[in-house]
Amino acid sequence: MKAALMSLGSVSSQWTSQAMRKYFDSVDDIDVRSVEVHLEGGKLEVLYQGKPLPPFECIYAKGSFRYAQTLRSVTTALYKTTYMPIKPATFTLGHDKLLTHLVLQLDNIPMPNTYIASSTTAAKKILDTINYPIIFKLPSGTGGKGVMYAESFAAASSLLDTLMTLRQPFIIQEYIETSGEDIRVIVAGEKVIASMKRKAVVGEKRANYHSGGAGIPHTPDSYTQKICLQAAKAIGADICAIDVLESIKGPLVIEVNLSPGLQLITKTTGIDVADRIARYLFERTKSIREAGAKKETGEIMKQINIEKKAGEQQIVTNLDFRGERILLPKLATDMTQFSSKDEFVLKVSKGKLVIEKV
Ligand SMILES: Nc1ncnc2c1ncn2[C@@H]1O[C@H](COP(=O)(O)OP(=O)(O)O)[C@@H](O)[C@H]1O
Ligand SMILES: [Mg+2]
Repeated sequence: MKAALMSLGSVSSQWTSQAMRKYFDSVDDIDVRSVEVHLEGGKLEVLYQGKPLPPFECIYAKGSFRYAQTLRSVTTALYKTTYMPIKPATFTLGHDKLLTHLVLQLDNIPMPNTYIASSTTAAKKILDTINYPIIFKLPSGTGGKGVMYAESFAAASSLLDTLMTLRQPFIIQEYIETSGEDIRVIVAGEKVIASMKRKAVVGEKRANYHSGGAGIPHTPDSYTQKICLQAAKAIGADICAIDVLESIKGPLVIEVNLSPGLQLITKTTGIDVADRIARYLFERTKSIREAGAKKETGEIMKQINIEKKAGEQQIVTNLDFRGERILLPKLATDMTQFSSKDEFVLKVSKGKLVIEKV
């Protein structure tokens, strides 16, 4: 089976494509920056480096929020014929924290109280009533950048004015006290394949690796794991990372990451996470192909009713007319073992046709 990894070529992506090579017959590395999608003449075509993208059985497409539109378009064009672990709309949802929270909310996934306001007056009203400290977040921030902490109304009010002046969309969220810790859980299909706790450096509120957070081995309880699997399903990603805050109210999901870094979690857990992802991709592609083949045979058998009669088999079927010509079912070629090199005699009369090899 042929597979491809469509990504920005980070170290984590390189690890994943190397691991995929252990399972698939071939793995192409596709740089998402050289991908184009053309909508022309009623067709949706994917080009790579200016040429049509060849077919693959599996494409693992991922990248940063900057490429969400391209990734969504590529997946829309290919996901019906290719196994792709992240659904088309998921790229837009998962790269926007506001949309992520809206989707998770619909599936009753627990999360911190989150507020959206589009005018300064409305936002100030929220700041008047909310308990402090609070968090402001830019919807498309990553790596802890875009997460702002406000200890009081005074701090929040000046942050709000700045965000409004910069015309920067934001969400307001209750601050969950966890002593600067969050839980990072990697999901592949129906399983949690690795997890760890991240602890923020002293004086920092954000536990991200890029903000200096350190990894500690940690396996969340089965309820938290169940919430993570539900969150992945709700967002439409077979493979992703879920960030969770363990609060006194229970686990609260704060983020779904469609392109998680693998370095810290691999080092912390000692688990070859890239290998687990690759194995999942392979198993899933294989089972989809097998299910597809079974369905195809099943459908052919349903359409074509084969009856055995002394020495010959009868195929009861509709005929496929291409204009004024008749196209026979493939089964007829298989059973007769006719070849294009053979010569034939057609015995034709009204309502009857017999084809015999000479
Ligand atoms: N509501 C919150 N309460 C407390 N800490 C938070 C909250 N939201 C985020 N954080 C901290 O900030 C970090 C980054 O937030 P997150 O929403 O995961 O954004 P990203 O990782 O994309 O920057 C989290 O890992 C956590 O340590
Ligand atoms: Mg995060």
